[in-house]
Amino acid sequence: MILPVKMKDFTYDVVVQKNSLDIIEEYLDLNRKVLILTDDGIPYEYIDKVYKKCFKPYVYTILQGEASKSFINFEKILDFLIKNEFSRTDCVIAVGGGVVGDLAGFVSSVYMRGIPFYNIPTTLLSQVDSSIGGKTAIDKLGIKNIIGAFYPPHKVIIDPTVLKTLDKRQLYSGLAESIKMGLTCDKTLFNLIKDSTNLLEDIETIIIKSLQVKKDVVELDPNELGLRRVLNFGHTIGHGIESHSGALLHGECVGIGMTYMCSDNVKKELLTVLNKYDLPTQYIANKEELYKYICLDKKRNNNKLVIVSVNKIGEFEFKEIFIEEILNYF
Ligand SMILES: NC(=O)c1ccc[n+]([C@@H]2O[C@H](COP(=O)([O-])OP(=O)(O)OC[C@H]3O[C@@H](n4cnc5c(N)ncnc54)[C@H](O)[C@@H]3O)[C@@H](O)[C@H]2O)c1
Repeated sequence: MILPVKMKDFTYDVVVQKNSLDIIEEYLDLNRKVLILTDDGIPYEYIDKVYKKCFKPYVYTILQGEASKSFINFEKILDFLIKNEFSRTDCVIAVGGGVVGDLAGFVSSVYMRGIPFYNIPTTLLSQVDSSIGGKTAIDKLGIKNIIGAFYPPHKVIIDPTVLKTLDKRQLYSGLAESIKMGLTCDKTLFNLIKDSTNLLEDIETIIIKSLQVKKDVVELDPNELGLRRVLNFGHTIGHGIESHSGALLHGECVGIGMTYMCSDNVKKELLTVLNKYDLPTQYIANKEELYKYICLDKKRNNNKLVIVSVNKIGEFEFKEIFIEEILNYF
């Protein structure tokens, strides 16, 4: 399955196909210098599959974890490209989750004012969410994604079979983003996740349906000025919980965040699905303390917030509120 994502100036393809890593040369131009950026938690077999097909491959491995989305790594990778004389026609390939993808994309956006960037996402979260939309970033001074650029990949290759080695907790955390897309925009996606009896068997369809939702939204609003804010469903309170807890995964926090933003009927269905996939359904914290973390969220704009709520599965509403009104939702 190939999903073309149409941006203002160009279109890039997202390929979703089992075992596509084994025939990667059919999709990517590897007849040049290639920097494979990855982290030390990615099984080497995936890197090797790409490495073997490249004319002149270089591998750069960062430590796994959010802390690697740093300015220091950004600079070190740029130094590596310069020292190895990468030209504007060479390329960078991310093989990893959202951390690797965000860093690789940002490096690619600035090296020689932009070199070709391919993304091979290997976590469910990166396959259904961060792989498209063109957002790249690093963290600074403890603030996530504060430095970055919109720099769409030249191609995205999604091989759902790589998820077999992914830790269950990471898998379910990524699934929370698909649950979000189903709840807001596609009831059939939500029902598929709800009724699935074998997640890995259904995962290719779940990925395609989730990408279809994200593609439709980013094509209409590439710079996140309007409609794209629907993708923030569950994220306002979710981000606050993520920063406050320091231990929960992103999708786990989004899952909890969504429970505050829907009607009673929708919430009942959501809780059933969250429980099914061992995702947490509540977070106990001091209300005022959590509020402080929400205020730090960069989506704040003149003390106002746009929140997304779901009163009927597959449909959503935007509402602008003053930031302090968020306390009424807890
Ligand atoms: N650019 C965007 O639009 C966007 C959207 C959402 C999230 N993000 C970013 O994505 C990041 C989170 O990404 P993530 O959830 O993919 O986490 P991650 O990149 O930290 O990966 C999670 C863990 O899984 C391991 N891993 C990855 N693939 C594996 C595989 N196939 N088998 C075994 N282990 C594997 C990694 O080594 C890592 O330890 C955050 O930094 C977030 O800001 C970006």
